Amino acid sequence: MRQGEAGSLKCRNFLTSMQKTRGTLGVISRYREYLPVTEATPIVSLSEGSTPLIHARELSELVQAEVYLKYEGLNPTCSFKDRGMTVAISKAAEQGAKAVLCASTGNTSASAAAYAARAGMQCVVILPAGRIAGGKMVQAYLYGARVVAIEGNFDDALRIVRELGERGHFVVVNSTNPHRLEGQKTAAFEIIEELGKAPDLHILPVGNAGNITAYWKGYREFYDLGRSNNLPVMLGVQASGAAPLYHGAPMDQPETLATAIRIGQPASWDGAMGAVKESLGEFDMVTDAEILAAQKWLASKEGVFAEPASVVPVALLLKIFQSKDHDLCRSKTIFSKLPANPTLVLTITGHGLKDPETASHALSEPLQAKATLEAVLKAIEVS
Ligand SMILES: Cc1ncc(COP(=O)(O)O)c(C=O)c1O
Repeated sequence: MRQGEAGSLKCRNFLTSMQKTRGTLGVISRYREYLPVTEATPIVSLSEGSTPLIHARELSELVQAEVYLKYEGLNPTCSFKDRGMTVAISKAAEQGAKAVLCASTGNTSASAAAYAARAGMQCVVILPAGRIAGGKMVQAYLYGARVVAIEGNFDDALRIVRELGERGHFVVVNSTNPHRLEGQKTAAFEIIEELGKAPDLHILPVGNAGNITAYWKGYREFYDLGRSNNLPVMLGVQASGAAPLYHGAPMDQPETLATAIRIGQPASWDGAMGAVKESLGEFDMVTDAEILAAQKWLASKEGVFAEPASVVPVALLLKIFQSKDHDLCRSKTIFSKLPANPTLVLTITGHGLKDPETASHALSEPLQAKATLEAVLKAIEVS
């Protein structure tokens, strides 16, 4: 074997072992046969997907179930949006698009801006002024997006984006773009492959309702292909100030500190309703105070730091299994119908560092001490 050949073989072996490592493949490479891509699609990827499914010991004990956290905060821009964005931007590149556009409560803008940067496209994001978490705002600027803050909420921003999209200058990469949902359904595939089955119950936060629609599509597809023998019950959780699906009617003035799900007129209304009805699931809601308590609980008990919108499933479990308010939970009866020792998956949609301002509720003044061992021991009350 010539020296060059040995070198390239070594390189190939290295690549093969690298590709086996979690997170190196990207959603399209891992699941291309299930996605709307062809040889003509240029793949724009940041090695998204293949996120960890973390066993949650404390939650499992509380619920008397096997509870897992699908930690989507570990995607490249730290939210689940990247799964859909790799497909949406790749398809936009295939069409020859030069610019993409989205309305956002923050995470879509971060993801769109990153993937557009990767593809060499311009990205315009339209956001509700003053209602975007700091980390997400910084991301949009750093990735090079043109940011427009409007005096209105997300629903106003999406209306404008839809109108602009019809003029044909931009490809809209909100979850109204079907390629986004195609990419997002791969999270359900990963869960089935890791558990060897679908969970008995899947709980996730719901805002514009694209993700619950996508998960249900993914679970259904693998079920229809015989890749799983069961389908989960789908439980969508909203913030009580922004709970149109829970109430069954759009809301004009949604309000919650979980800004990622501050949405009154979900675009994927029918998809979300279909997922819940077909799976015999439910919509439920939790208050902002319960969200803040759940954020602290999840970080301090399970070691998982998630942004406020991402912890609404945890807040619901704490409310049902730990609080005297459990009778307020419409979804309570679902738990009594599950098999013994059921498997639950909760999607943790975004990383806690996205929104340091809201998380700062947990801060207190640090203990003060002189720079000596004795003073530090005294401060931490260890003798
Ligand atoms: C962190 C986070 N969680 C949940 C959601 C809700 O997802 P969907 O709008 O697909 O319902 C969003 C949407 O922006 C989000 O950013």
